Amino acid sequence: MKSLQQLHTFGLPAHCTDFVRIQSVHSAHTFIAQHLEQPFYLLGQGSNTAFVADYQGTVAEVALKGIDVQENDSHYIIKAAAGESWHELVVYCLKHTMYGFENLALIPGTVGAAPIQNIGAYGVEVERFIKSVQYIDLKTNQVHSIAAKDCEFGYRDSIFKHALWQKAMIVGVTFLLPKAWQPVVTYGELAALHAPSAQDIFNKVVEVRQAKLPDPNVLGNAGSFFKNPIISCETLAALHQQFPSMPFYPLDAEAVKIPAAWLIDQLGFKGQFEGGIRCHPKQALVLTNAEQGTGEQLLSLARRIKNAVAEQFSIDLEHEVQLIGAKGKVLL
Ligand code: EPU
Repeated sequence: MKSLQQLHTFGLPAHCTDFVRIQSVHSAHTFIAQHLEQPFYLLGQGSNTAFVADYQGTVAEVALKGIDVQENDSHYIIKAAAGESWHELVVYCLKHTMYGFENLALIPGTVGAAPIQNIGAYGVEVERFIKSVQYIDLKTNQVHSIAAKDCEFGYRDSIFKHALWQKAMIVGVTFLLPKAWQPVVTYGELAALHAPSAQDIFNKVVEVRQAKLPDPNVLGNAGSFFKNPIISCETLAALHQQFPSMPFYPLDAEAVKIPAAWLIDQLGFKGQFEGGIRCHPKQALVLTNAEQGTGEQLLSLARRIKNAVAEQFSIDLEHEVQLIGAKGKVLL
């Protein structure tokens, strides 16, 4: 049994039967050949996973390293191995005057995990820069490259959470950063910046995130616990009769996104504890491991929140964090 407490940012007290750190493509192939028949879970830095019980299987940390940069007339072509830290890649690109990732500064986790949930913040989702994703097909043990257009990217979603879930080990991601850089400053706090450089945007994003979001190295958490729900304009109009101040972001002619943090905040959960797990006092969408909480307590608080939101607003909250129990994925 190996403790998983240090291997996921929630820091919950859980164990797995076996643990492997994969540091080369060769050892990835060996691992797949040996473990295909047994249960296993692939992990990056564990920043979007909560181990809510002892996992009965092998946890494999994908720790492949390496960054390669090429260029053509219009783009930088950046190939990064799955185990590279996302934020370090953002910093590396900025330092080498390759711009575009700055809105995605300080998102915890690895490069390989980024396409799985199509990480996004401050008006940018990573899919905009992905050219292709390299993965090993776990059935055939062959390396494949899937083009971005086939990755079925959506809001915190991709093919890797569906058709390729437990079927692919991502080993690298190829990004395209246009040399003709365009700042994205549509999002609230960034709109106040005047003719910002990429560095200015980076600095602002770091400042805003540090002010609102707890540092997982200090206080266990996995970022936003729930996704922001998407509802129809019709449903919104009906809800506005009863809750006129409900904020929303228009998506298209038919749908809007509602900030889940607002729904949770309205119900008074901010700052509330369930055992050692707490709804963050500065951002209601983040649950934290404030006082040595357990997986059971995390599930219990998450279920209370989900049920209360359903009861008050008739909106179904979906969790964003992967919840892993004894046998794999757990639903709320
Ligand atoms: N709000 C409240 N109470 C709160 C916090 C927020 O009412 O305690 C309301 C406010 O109306 C605020 C709105 O919710 O304007 C949105 O809040 P915020 O700007 O903090 O962003 P969010 O929608 O809660 C999303 C992403 C974050 C990302 C930020 C910034 C999701 C699930 N979350 O959060 O991503 O950093 O926008 O772009 O889409 C993550 O995925 O782990 C993550 C942190």
